Amino acid sequence: MAASSPPRVPTGIAGLDEMLHGGFPRGHVVLVLGTPGVGKTCLALQFVADGVSRGEKALYLSFEEETEALVASAAQFGWPLAEANQKGLLKIVRIDPQDASNALKRIRSQFPAEVQAFGPKRIVIDSISLLSALAPDEVERRNVLFYVARMCRQTGATAVMTAEANPLAPEVSRDGLGEYVSDGVLLLSPTEDARAHRAGLSLKVLKMRRTEHTRTRQPYRFGPKGLEVDAHAVDFGGL
Ligand SMILES: Nc1ncnc2c1ncn2[C@@H]1O[C@H](COP(=O)(O)OP(=O)(O)OP(=O)(O)O)[C@@H](O)[C@H]1O
Ligand SMILES: [Mg+2]
Repeated sequence: MAASSPPRVPTGIAGLDEMLHGGFPRGHVVLVLGTPGVGKTCLALQFVADGVSRGEKALYLSFEEETEALVASAAQFGWPLAEANQKGLLKIVRIDPQDASNALKRIRSQFPAEVQAFGPKRIVIDSISLLSALAPDEVERRNVLFYVARMCRQTGATAVMTAEANPLAPEVSRDGLGEYVSDGVLLLSPTEDARAHRAGLSLKVLKMRRTEHTRTRQPYRFGPKGLEVDAHAVDFGGL
């Protein structure tokens, strides 16, 4: 690896860290893209759990699941996010996407100050698909995503933003915008066998600025301690 390689932030997933030569470059905004149920939220929670286990503050902005559901999902993998929350290491902010105008107002007015005051090292936005859906038109959609990505960068934190894949073109996000505001893109996909039965899951690093990375599609699974990526598998049957 080049001597100028940026410092790394471990993702909490050993095989993914290996694919990335140590983790996300610090300060990156990374898009985690995938169809429903592939583990985007799980990856984001794992990233947060890894941070708080190192004593780093994390902020989780959820437009989808309620705080209790996120904490319960984490608990099934042994990640003590309720404790992290009590200790003041983790802040979960849940924004109701049904209340679009208040949600956008909060993101633009209160949120930056809240983030600066808390000082997280890791930020999750789950998902930017719902965030951008709050905006009334295309211009505002772009603006809000650029705004949020810039705010993450200004804090110096490393950020994960999840996004729904376009069902007709699953290597791009539904609104096609998140890729442009991100420094890196991870694609999570179901893999199919020859009969088109869903056989497994695979992860590919589509883009990661300022670092070398594995470019192959590698299998992963939900293990007892969260997502497990096999960084070395070849011919694992995925298409
Ligand atoms: N304990 C577990 N063991 C095995 N698989 C699990 C476990 N918990 C969740 N899953 C799997 O995780 C999937 C949901 O993961 P997650 O919520 O992270 O996906 P997602 O990509 O965020 O989905 P969505 O698009 O709905 O937000 C479930 O569909 C299930 O397959
Ligand atoms: Mg999710």
